[in-house]
Amino acid sequence: MRRVAIFGVANDRSLCWAIAQRMLADKADVVLVSHPMMLERVRKLAHPFGIEHVYGCEVGDPEQVEDCFRKLAPLGPFHGIVHGIAFSDKNELRGRFIDTSRENFATTMMISCYSFIEIARRATLLMPDGGSILTLTFDASRPWPHYNIMGPAKAALEASVRYAAFDLGEHGIRVNAISASPEDTLSARGIQHFRVIGDWAEGMSPLGRRATLQEIANEAAYLLSPESSGVTGQIRFVDCGSSVPKLPPVRNAAKIYGAMGRVLHITGEREGEVYVNKV
Ligand SMILES: NC(=O)c1ccc[n+]([C@@H]2O[C@H](COP(=O)([O-])OP(=O)(O)OC[C@H]3O[C@@H](n4cnc5c(N)ncnc54)[C@H](O)[C@@H]3O)[C@@H](O)[C@H]2O)c1
Repeated sequence: MRRVAIFGVANDRSLCWAIAQRMLADKADVVLVSHPMMLERVRKLAHPFGIEHVYGCEVGDPEQVEDCFRKLAPLGPFHGIVHGIAFSDKNELRGRFIDTSRENFATTMMISCYSFIEIARRATLLMPDGGSILTLTFDASRPWPHYNIMGPAKAALEASVRYAAFDLGEHGIRVNAISASPEDTLSARGIQHFRVIGDWAEGMSPLGRRATLQEIANEAAYLLSPESSGVTGQIRFVDCGSSVPKLPPVRNAAKIYGAMGRVLHITGEREGEVYVNKV
């Protein structure tokens, strides 16, 4: 039986929960690792689906990470590990990127990027026969309003995917990331005016929409399976093509107009003012 450890379920909207559901549908054995504050809630969520093992781990604490891997090791061997963890101070997911504090720079990088490196380093303990590691990113190639320091954290995460793939190849472990559409999750709601990002992504998409959680989970299932045995060190976009065009397709004009309209209605915001002035 295929066995997968998934770090990052907070609730039933989490990208990682969609991946867990998809892996269960594929008859995989799923083990969950969640933030200790979410543990009881996630246990309740997981229980009806027959997920027996749910552990808590604050990835900012090296002792908890060590302890978590000590608990996971006897359950192995694993075939896949999913990292879906990100954090930045909500008060800095608004306003200007250049106002990022030293403290939140360090925290955001530690939780959103270094946790991945730590998990990748320990992956050989869980996957002695090789396997697949997967993380989740959001288009790090350009700035998004209010995404702020999370953008550089995702750029670092994406570079870390390539470096980890380089190191772990000799152990038969592949490492990839899915760059997903904006989705309405707990983390995303911390980003000020996140709905504008979502609307904009839909307007830019050649398909005129965002990817569903199911579509993201389908890609995850592929990357976690032997069917993707030749794929490593890659950032795979599951965003309905939103990241492709420089200008939106004309047929999406109403969606783009709607997104800009939302910006206009955000009173007192710099973007709104700038846009009004230009109009
Ligand atoms: N929602 C989106 O629009 C979107 C798009 C692309 C990529 N992603 C990425 O997908 C991943 C999952 O996010 P999500 O959107 O499903 O939101 P989510 O809030 O459901 O998941 C984030 C998870 O990170 C965990 N976490 C945060 N700090 C932690 C810590 N110190 N220790 C342990 N766990 C911690 C949370 O408990 C939660 O389970 C993140 O890396 C996110 O950046 C999200």
